[in-house]
Amino acid sequence: MAPQITVTEHLLLHQKRTPTATGRFTRLFNEIILSAKIISREVTKAGLVDVLGFTGDTNVQGEEVRKLDEYANRVLIHRLSRCGVLCAMASEENADVIEIAAGLPVGEYILIFDPLDGSSNIDANVSIGTIFSILRRKTPVEGPLLSSDVLQRGAEQVAAGYIVYGSSTMLVFTTGDGVHGFTLDPGVGEFLLSHPNIRIPEQGRIYSVNEGYQNYWDAPTRQVMEYFKNSEGARRKPYSLRYIGSLVADFHRHLLYGGVFLYPADGRDPKKPGGKLRLMCEANPLAMVVEQAGGLATDGVRRILDIEPEHLHQRVPLVIGSRDDVLKIKEIYESGS
Ligand code: AHG
Ligand code: MN
Ligand code: MN
Repeated sequence: MAPQITVTEHLLLHQKRTPTATGRFTRLFNEIILSAKIISREVTKAGLVDVLGFTGDTNVQGEEVRKLDEYANRVLIHRLSRCGVLCAMASEENADVIEIAAGLPVGEYILIFDPLDGSSNIDANVSIGTIFSILRRKTPVEGPLLSSDVLQRGAEQVAAGYIVYGSSTMLVFTTGDGVHGFTLDPGVGEFLLSHPNIRIPEQGRIYSVNEGYQNYWDAPTRQVMEYFKNSEGARRKPYSLRYIGSLVADFHRHLLYGGVFLYPADGRDPKKPGGKLRLMCEANPLAMVVEQAGGLATDGVRRILDIEPEHLHQRVPLVIGSRDDVLKIKEIYESGS
C-alpha cells in the first residue's frame, strides 16, 4: 500500500525545505483544516439537524443569509481568531474587516474567506465549498492595521485554496509551490494527499456560465458563447455546458477536467456593474490556484491577480480555467466586437 500523507505531514515537509519557516503558517493552516472538518461534518448531516433554510438576515452583499452560511462563518471566525498568528480576517458575510479581539495573541497574517460558497444549493444537497486567501500584512504587527494591509493585489497572496463539500470533502490549495489536493477520509478524520501536483489541461471542452442572463450581456460576451457552440475552435466540435451554480464546485471540475468558468459583467443591476463574484474572497484565491496549476484567470482582459482592490467587497467579472480557452476569450474581448 502506498504511504498515505496527511495534509499536516505535507505542510511539515514543505516547512523543512524552507529553513526560515517558523511554523506559524502551519499553525494557521491547521486551524483552517480543523474548521473545514467541522463545517464538513455539519454539511453532511444538514438534512437531519435544523441547519437548512434562511436565518432571516441579509448580508453586506444584499443576499439572504442561510443558516449554514452563518454556521460556517461562526466556526471560521471563532477558531481562527484564537490561532495567534492572524491580525485580521475578512469574510464575505461581514461588512468590515474583523480585527482580533484585545487580549488574544496576534501575528502577521490576514485571512480572507467566503465561508460557504454556492449556498443556494445547500438545501438540494448539491456541492458547496469554502474559499480562502492568506495575505501577510505590510506594516509592523505592533502598529495599527491599515486598509492597505488588507487591500493587497491577489499576486501578493501567500497561499490560497478551497474546500469542496461534494461526493467527498476535498481540500485543494497552493502556497506558491504547485497545487495539491487532499481528500478527507471520514474514517480517520484526516485529509490525505490524493491529488499531488494538479495541472489543469491546457485546453478543455466544457464551459460553465449562467446563460439565463444572456439578454443582459454585451456583444463580446455573446460572441464568446458563439465560439463555444460553433465548431470552429481547435476541437472542431461544440463545447459541453455544465453549470452547478457553486463557483467552487464548477471551478474544481475545470481544474481536473479542463475548461473554463465565466461570470461576466451584465446589465441586470446598475449597482453591480462588475458582475457578481467578489475579487478578494472568491476570484483572487481561485486565480492563484489556477495559475499555479498552469491555467489563467482574467476579468476578460486583465489578469485577476494584478487588479488593485479599492474596497473589500469589490466585484469583478471572472473568466478562469484552461490556458488556451482563457486566451481565446481574451482575444474576443480585446477585439471588442
Ligand atoms: P455565495 O453562495 O458565496 O453567495 O456565492 C454564490 C456565487 C457562486 O458560487 C456561483 O458561481 C454564483 O454565485 C451563482 O450565481 P447565479 O445564480 O447568478 O448564476
Ligand atoms: Mn461565493
Ligand atoms: Mn458565500
